[in-house]
Amino acid sequence: MSVGIPIAHDSALAHTTGAARFADDLAEPPGLLHGALVLSPVARGVLDGIDIPVLPGVVRVLTAADIPGPNDISPSGNGKEPLFAEGTIRHHGQPIALVLAETRDAALRAAAAITPAITPLPAQLDPEEALAREDYLMPPQVIARGDASAALAAAPLTAEGRFNAGGQEHFYLESQIAIAVPGEDGEFAVTSSTQHPTEVQHVVARILGCDYNRVPVSCRRMGGGFGGKESNASWIGAAAALGAHLTGRPVKLRPPRRVDMAATGKRHPFLFRWKAGFDASGRILALDATLAADGGHSLDLTPGVVFRAVTHALNCYDVAAVRLTALALRTDTVSHTAFRGFGGPQGVLLMEDVISAVARATGLTPEAVRERNFAGGDNDALTPYGQALEGDLIRRVWAECRTDARWDERRAEIADFNATHPFLRRGLGSFVLAFGISFGIRHMNQAGALVHVYADGSIRLNHGGTEMGQGLNVKIAQVVAESFGVPLARVRITATSTAEVPNTSPTAASTGSDLNGWAAHLAARAIRSRMAEVAATLWEVPADAITFAEDRVFVARPGDNRAMGFGDLAHRCWIERVSLSATGFYSTPDIHWDPVAMHGEPFFYFSYGASVAEVVVDTLTGEHRVLRADLVQDCGRSLNPAIDRGQIEGAFVQGMGWLTCEELVWDDQGRQRTLGPSTYKIPGSRDVPPAFNVRLLADAPARSDTIFRSKAVGEPPLMLATAVWNALRDATGVDRLDLPATPDRLLRAIRARGS
Ligand code: MTE
Ligand code: MOS
Repeated sequence: MSVGIPIAHDSALAHTTGAARFADDLAEPPGLLHGALVLSPVARGVLDGIDIPVLPGVVRVLTAADIPGPNDISPSGNGKEPLFAEGTIRHHGQPIALVLAETRDAALRAAAAITPAITPLPAQLDPEEALAREDYLMPPQVIARGDASAALAAAPLTAEGRFNAGGQEHFYLESQIAIAVPGEDGEFAVTSSTQHPTEVQHVVARILGCDYNRVPVSCRRMGGGFGGKESNASWIGAAAALGAHLTGRPVKLRPPRRVDMAATGKRHPFLFRWKAGFDASGRILALDATLAADGGHSLDLTPGVVFRAVTHALNCYDVAAVRLTALALRTDTVSHTAFRGFGGPQGVLLMEDVISAVARATGLTPEAVRERNFAGGDNDALTPYGQALEGDLIRRVWAECRTDARWDERRAEIADFNATHPFLRRGLGSFVLAFGISFGIRHMNQAGALVHVYADGSIRLNHGGTEMGQGLNVKIAQVVAESFGVPLARVRITATSTAEVPNTSPTAASTGSDLNGWAAHLAARAIRSRMAEVAATLWEVPADAITFAEDRVFVARPGDNRAMGFGDLAHRCWIERVSLSATGFYSTPDIHWDPVAMHGEPFFYFSYGASVAEVVVDTLTGEHRVLRADLVQDCGRSLNPAIDRGQIEGAFVQGMGWLTCEELVWDDQGRQRTLGPSTYKIPGSRDVPPAFNVRLLADAPARSDTIFRSKAVGEPPLMLATAVWNALRDATGVDRLDLPATPDRLLRAIRARGS
């Protein structure tokens, strides 16, 4: 048995002792050049030219004119996202040139000394302005059911609201990096810290104008990605490969943190506007809402983020008549990108704001309104786009979480505290989640794996997923060990490589173990059935009488004790000239989507979760602490409960950071002023709730065709932090609380309320 056991991350020790090698730790190839990016000092303008002075140690400075292929790094190949600016400058911090020098210091010094000649133009920096002008990157995405306007007009009660949620910097510990090494025959081997080796391959090949087969890309591990290395890693790789192509020397590009933060996109900031109709029982009858994402200057992955926001805008709730309009605003800022939850975290905020307003208007508690509107039960279980939610699971995670949190007793305790304390206010908030698992784009839901069994019975596993700390590799190794009935120690985990498993999808949308787990399982099963044939022939029994368990191969028949070691059978297969290597390929069944009707079943299944958070707010300073959090997260039958627990805890704290302390600031020139840990505050160890009760839902059902009945975990628990937003509103009684709820924003809201 290997699946379902709480096994430590394969690199846990190496991570904590510093022995784990990241791209920058690899031995540097001889002749290595170091790259440094020259970034635009203005938000919008016309690039008139670049005067390149003679600088010590500099070998070459590359600009758009040096690119042999199309100057296009867009994930979609739309031709509108240049590697280096050409003509128009689109944002402050946009890459304009790459300096190649003998040392990194020389490259960085030279990059700082180069000032491009730019005629500045007025920039559109404010998403509100873009919304007013209807300046969109793509047509609106609208999900509608019933007649929302008529239902609003007919509703006994109505309310409306607006609020904003800010973006979020990924702040992976290891910043972006790529190393490109030119081969003697026109090949460019790229080592990249990337969630998407195949896209690095594609973008490098596009920039160089060569075939994909000349660009093997590999990644052993990332020091975190969080979505920030889904599309952004590819242009870092392309810049390094361009340098290698033009100089014939290996090139490493590792931008300093402030350059990484200036030049790469973040979580999309969103603006929300809504009108709701409801009755005195708290039942929400109609909703007309606009969710407007600030996409920055170009599309990048914005269509997918907007899709996820609009499909998650009702979350686990049922509203009969809805009109949900999702927009992608264009601003002259960095192009925003994937970030854990991919628009889902923003989408699910909508109903929380509606629920809180309905509670105020009806005098009910937000929890009563929540329960009244859950999908399923007496309400409709279908989402407005036509996919069924599991109403019983929604109610179950919430009921269990409410019990774990001792909701009713603590409500009373908190009321007592608030009645006596002069200025501290405690508050309790809840949240319930239904999060769809699958990529919104159908063809991305595929994966491959390559498994070898050697003649001693040791196993080498390669799959298309990437390891970013989330424990994907140990999970897939568990799956393979389980498939062969061998101990985990037999399975060797290797680097992800486009040369071993081609045409991969990014490791994203929480699908890593679902997709690659199946692919690896299918590969292992193919080998195992060949091995079973060999054993069956040897023992003169039918192949289905052979079982694999406990590192041995048995005849599974009463009274027959014949058995041999797994390694012995592997050796036997080799002697018998039987192949011990196989590829596995998986594609998610059943999912479909009609992008015109905005209707279908785009998700393989939903992941459910619930949370309760308690905060204490200092109403004199606006500061707060999360005192306690209780989480119940559905992981199906977890492949590895230790890894999943870590994912839940980490995701929750990262979500808290987004909602409370991580604030991105751009000045009126469009310059980002939060370019490092001194100005951008991520949660620290002391922000972790001192009472932090994380529980995986017991006996959690999952489709039988998920891998060993497990469910994805990577993103959903980030959204459970939304309970903190609700707790802050509960503590302070403020109606509108924009995010992040930093102390100054919270203090202003408290003062505006006049308490
Ligand atoms: N956990 C760690 N430690 N580091 C990361 O970068 N990324 C998250 C999540 N958990 C991340 C993480 C994101 S954005 C996703 S989509 C999933 O992991 C991807 O991995 P999975 O599909 O294997 O869960
Ligand atoms: Mo995660 S945002 O899907 O990489």
